[in-house]
Amino acid sequence: MARKVLAAYATRYGSTKETMEVVGERLRERGFEVSVRPAKEVTSIEGVDAVVLGVPLYIGRWLKDGQRFLSGHAEDLARLPVAVLSLGPLAPQEEAQGAREQFDKELAKYPQLRPVATGVFGGKFDPATLGFLDNLLTKLPASPLYQRPASDARDWDAIRAWAEALADRLTADD
Ligand SMILES: Cc1cc2nc3c(=O)[nH]c(=O)nc-3n(C[C@H](O)[C@H](O)[C@H](O)COP(=O)(O)O)c2cc1C
Repeated sequence: MARKVLAAYATRYGSTKETMEVVGERLRERGFEVSVRPAKEVTSIEGVDAVVLGVPLYIGRWLKDGQRFLSGHAEDLARLPVAVLSLGPLAPQEEAQGAREQFDKELAKYPQLRPVATGVFGGKFDPATLGFLDNLLTKLPASPLYQRPASDARDWDAIRAWAEALADRLTADD
C-alpha cells in the first residue's frame, strides 16, 4: 500500500500553498499517497506515515498556523518522519543566509522535532495584494519591505529537487 504523506501548509497570500502543491505532486509521482491541506484544518494526523510542513517566514518568525501545527501535534510528529520547508527571502542572493538563520531559530523552538529534511526557498511578494498591516510595513523607510517591487523568487527546479530528495529519503526508510 502507498505510504500516506500529509503535506500541510500555512500561508497568508497563497505562495506556500502553491509550493506545497508542487511538492505534493512530485511525491505522488514517486508513488506516495499525498494529501495537501491547510495546517489549521488538520485536527489529527493519525494514519499518516510522514508529514511535510510548508510554512513561510514573516518578520523573522514562522507564520502562526505553522507554529500551532507543530505544537498542537508535537507528540505525533516526534515519532514520524517530518520535513519542513519555508518560503522567505525575496532577494535570495542577499537574504538567503538571514532567512536560514531565522528558520533555524524557529526550528530550535521544537527540540523534539528532528526533521529528515529542511529547506528555505525564495518567496513571492506582491505589494498590491498585502493586507493592511503588511502594507504598512512597505511604507516605513526602516522596513526591509520599503518600496519593494513585486517579485517571485520561487525556484521551482530547486523545490522539485528538494521534494525528490525527500521522496528518496522516505523510500529509504521503508
Ligand atoms: C510582511 C512580510 C514580512 C516578511 N518577513 C519575512 C522575513 O522575516 N524573512 C523572510 O525570509 N521572508 C519574509 N517575508 C517574505 C515571505 O516569507 C514571502 O513573501 C512568502 O512567499 C509568503 O508566503 P505566503 O504567500 O504563503 O504567505 C515577508 C513578507 C511579508 C509580506
